[in-house]
Amino acid sequence: MRTPIIAGNWKMNKNPQETQEFLEAIKGKLPESGVEAVIGAPAIDLNALTWFSKDEPLKTAAENCYFEDAGAFTGETSPKALSDMGIDYVIIGHSERRQYFGETDEDINKKAHAILKNNMLPMICCGETLEQREAGDAESWVTGQIENAVKGISAEDLAKSVIAYEPIWAIGTGKTATADQAQEMVHVIREKVASLYDADTADKVRILYGGSVKPANVKELMSKEDIDGGLVGGASMDPESFLALANFNK
Ligand code: PGA
Repeated sequence: MRTPIIAGNWKMNKNPQETQEFLEAIKGKLPESGVEAVIGAPAIDLNALTWFSKDEPLKTAAENCYFEDAGAFTGETSPKALSDMGIDYVIIGHSERRQYFGETDEDINKKAHAILKNNMLPMICCGETLEQREAGDAESWVTGQIENAVKGISAEDLAKSVIAYEPIWAIGTGKTATADQAQEMVHVIREKVASLYDADTADKVRILYGGSVKPANVKELMSKEDIDGGLVGGASMDPESFLALANFNK
């Protein structure tokens, strides 16, 4: 049984004070079991996030990290430091990082290794543009991104990791992929994992859908066989909305 994940991705929003206010608003209201609730926050908010969530059933995610543990890399965030402060996940390969910061599949693969080495888990994002979808290239593009991201990662590590399918045309646009479109691609990704690894690993890895997930559509998305949760941007920033998402099965 794969435990569903509802993961917020705040992107470059909220300061430490606003992080604290959000956490106070959700205190005691997250599901104790059955769903893993995660907040992904900017690096500058992670101290507040870990501090104020320590007695809550809430896991924490960084939105990026570097692939070296330490050194002369001005402005980067160390995966070792994230691990030392108790962060659980690191989101890598988000389309915004690929598009605006030039992140390559090779960087994402190196980051995945660094995260796992530091006892955290990667949330590996993938997804196609509208042009790629319309040209019929979406499946080969997305499975190619996954194949490159997981190079050299053991089956045991991949089984614990998370993949997030986020079609770029559905991110922040209000235009959600239909639950069937999301299920179809998530299934293709699972088959790819089975072909790169084995059926057991494919059965264990959790694959999320992301792109305009909100309380109004989360139930339908979650009813699909292969979809194990949501990576949620806009709708994760308001406490009531995040609580509604995390309690989708109530
Ligand atoms: P959105 O963002 O929910 O605002 O579409 C999702 C994401 O980029 O992770």
